[in-house]
Amino acid sequence: MGFNQAWAGNAAVLIVAVAETATEDGTPVHYANYDLGQAVAHLSVQAHHDGLVVHQMGGFDREAIRPLLGLDERFAPVSVIALGELGDVDALPEPLAQREVAPRVRRSIDETVLLSA
Ligand SMILES: Cc1cc2nc3c(=O)[nH]c(=O)nc-3n(C[C@H](O)[C@H](O)[C@H](O)COP(=O)(O)O)c2cc1C
Repeated sequence: MGFNQAWAGNAAVLIVAVAETATEDGTPVHYANYDLGQAVAHLSVQAHHDGLVVHQMGGFDREAIRPLLGLDERFAPVSVIALGELGDVDALPEPLAQREVAPRVRRSIDETVLLSA
C-alpha cells in the first residue's frame, strides 16, 4: 500500500503476520498480539543471524488480504514482513533511498523502561 509498493515487491519473500484472536469455539485469545510479536521478533533475530534482513510493514490493505489468504474473522492480519538479502540502495526511489542511508536514531532506555526506587 502507498510507498511500500515502491520497494516491497522486490523482496524475496513477503510474509503476512496473522494473529489468531479467538479459538475455533470462539474463546478470545487475549495474548494473540503478544504471541505474534514474539514470533516476528524471533524471526527477525534468526534472519539477522543468517545474514538476511527483514522490514516490517503496517501499511497494507488488510481487507484485500483476507480473501486472498482465506482468513475468517478470528484471524487478524497485523503486519507484512519483507524478508531477503539487503538490496541495492541506488535502486530505491527518493526519498526512500535517503531514509535507508540516514543515521539511525533509537529511543533511549530511560524513555522506554520505567524504574522505581
Ligand atoms: C509494526 C510496524 C509497522 C511498520 N510499518 C512500516 C511500513 O508500513 N512501511 C515502512 O517502510 N516501514 C514500516 N515500519 C518501520 C520499519 O519496519 C523499520 O522498523 C524502520 O524502517 C527502521 O528500520 P531500521 O531498523 O533499519 O532502522 C514499521 C515498523 C513496525 C514495527
